[in-house]
Amino acid sequence: FRMVDLIQKKRNGAQFSKEEIDWIIENYVTGFVPDYQMSALAMAIYFRGMTTQETADLTMAMVNSGKQFDLRSIPGIKVDKHSTGGVGDKVTLILAPLVTSFGVPVAKMSGRGLGHTGGTLDKLESIPGFNIEKSETDFIEQVKKTNIAIIGQSEELVKADKLLYALRDVTATVDIIPLIASSVMSKKIASGSHAILLDVTVGDGAFMKSVDDARVLAQTMVDLGKSVGRETVAVITDMSQPLGFAIGNRNEITEAVETLHGKGTHAFRTFIAELAQIMLSLAGVEKSIEAILSHLDHGQAYEKFVEMVRAQNGDPDAFDHLCAPLKTAYRIDILADRAGFVTEEKAYGMGIVAMKLGAGRVTKNDHIDFEAGIQLAKKVGDKTQKGEVLATLYSNAVITDELVLEFKSTLVITDKATSPKEIIEIIRS
Ligand code: URA
Repeated sequence: FRMVDLIQKKRNGAQFSKEEIDWIIENYVTGFVPDYQMSALAMAIYFRGMTTQETADLTMAMVNSGKQFDLRSIPGIKVDKHSTGGVGDKVTLILAPLVTSFGVPVAKMSGRGLGHTGGTLDKLESIPGFNIEKSETDFIEQVKKTNIAIIGQSEELVKADKLLYALRDVTATVDIIPLIASSVMSKKIASGSHAILLDVTVGDGAFMKSVDDARVLAQTMVDLGKSVGRETVAVITDMSQPLGFAIGNRNEITEAVETLHGKGTHAFRTFIAELAQIMLSLAGVEKSIEAILSHLDHGQAYEKFVEMVRAQNGDPDAFDHLCAPLKTAYRIDILADRAGFVTEEKAYGMGIVAMKLGAGRVTKNDHIDFEAGIQLAKKVGDKTQKGEVLATLYSNAVITDELVLEFKSTLVITDKATSPKEIIEIIRS
């Protein structure tokens, strides 16, 4: 094949064969197909789309572009979880130990934050000493011993996704359903778990802006999982506002640890418990929401978290410090300029402000300030008086008036009471 012909083929709306897709991915990974041709193809896919068959072929070509993990030596049904990205998303930090506390092994590879989204790895690294790099053997050994490990994605896993994702990120080709589906599912398939829970976020802070698009993405991924024998359930969750109260890194660890100690709002705890119930069910363990919440209230989930931190060289004695309020050179309280109900907290804008405060990265190699971030005091639906604190911004750099205004523009207070729903829909195969 010639790449230029394949770009033209897709540009004209035709369908690729499996051989053509295999050729593209193989030659992209070796460097024979340059980035500029691959970006042209990604843009052609953006406008022309891909069929279900093409998406499945692309996913498997990507799986085959790297190593596959073999978790068969770990006893039991391994469940994995993946979110399509969000703001304040500390779900994995709570969910993984919670599920493990019922004896179900969780062997998870997570990612870093970029742009407005945060990443689980960055959050974990705010725990002094925490090591996210492990060899396959050490990773498997840890899961055998403790039933839980969260590490960074191995360099050898799905090489095509590393290259392609970085390219999509700078060529406005991230938010395309077949490319997101193949990116996520190739990583999940190559990581070796039997069953997969997908958290498909929707709304202002997510790649999918409408529930209809989120549903198509979710169904595509569930079908992909099924076609390769991995039981997959997708949950469409609301990312119009940030998840929970903390947006940053260290403060998200604090919120996770507090939740693992039985604290937190009823809505947030129930949300986590519902996700845990699905993951457990995927592993053949049926538990009531009450039974799951009791593992948050009575320390079993927290115990697994501490075990994981220890196994990955983190210092659990630092938790006292980790649970203190953020400490930065600058902080500003954001006050309500009127009384009413908080009606909107725009997740994308808040994610961008958190990034500008130092909690995130503009480009892949940027340095993160673990102490920087946003602490919300109110969530959508909450009542406020004029002058009450809605949120506090923390940074080790001067917080400009401009940034404060930018943050204020993400908040809307009206007279209308709303009650947001975390889980919008569940999609099973
Ligand atoms: N998350 C991924 O892993 N890949 C995408 O393409 C989008 C979100």
